Amino acid sequence: MDYMQPFGVDIDLVEGVMRDHDRVVVRRASAMLGHYADGAALQALIDAGDPVHYEVFEKAVPAEYGHLLFCISKLYPGRVGDEYFMTKGHYHTVAETAEVYLCLRGKGYMLMKTAEGGCVPAPMARNRLVYVPPYWAHRSINTGDEPLISLCIYPGDAGHNYGDIEREGFPKRVFFRGGQEVIA
Ligand code: F6R
Ligand code: ZN
Repeated sequence: MDYMQPFGVDIDLVEGVMRDHDRVVVRRASAMLGHYADGAALQALIDAGDPVHYEVFEKAVPAEYGHLLFCISKLYPGRVGDEYFMTKGHYHTVAETAEVYLCLRGKGYMLMKTAEGGCVPAPMARNRLVYVPPYWAHRSINTGDEPLISLCIYPGDAGHNYGDIEREGFPKRVFFRGGQEVIA
């Protein structure tokens, strides 16, 4: 048998980074076209320097059944108009695969939806774990003033299906209105 060698990684909980990662996915404001309610505010942000929205630090684990993929997701604080920064969100390509998100720092929501219209905003806060069951699309939203940092773990063969959620959108959004968080 050609065994894969076990390994460990170092995670910096203050910075919200995986030190010895193999890959970082960086999504700037310009990667978020079509996702926010206020398209003009997003364009203004892009024109003003296209800031980083979030980074995902990964190890090169085989994306195959039997393995577990894991990453550190670091979503920066900010707003597009009055809507809080968020990730694009996706279903898994293998829709019957779940995921866990352990929040390590910051606060916000894991917004989840089904194809039939179910929608749940689960609060995220340090030391809270959110279980994303099979078939639920998921997106994280940062309502705090520091990065929202999560450890995500999901099956190796799950894959990312961004197309369906781009077409459907999420039924709820999280805004800062009248001095408070509003889910609408
Ligand atoms: C993996 C997963 C997370 C996200 C990450 C970025 O299945 O859910 O690792 O990929 O939080 O969000 P997206 O992929 O929606 O841009
Ligand atoms: Zn996922």
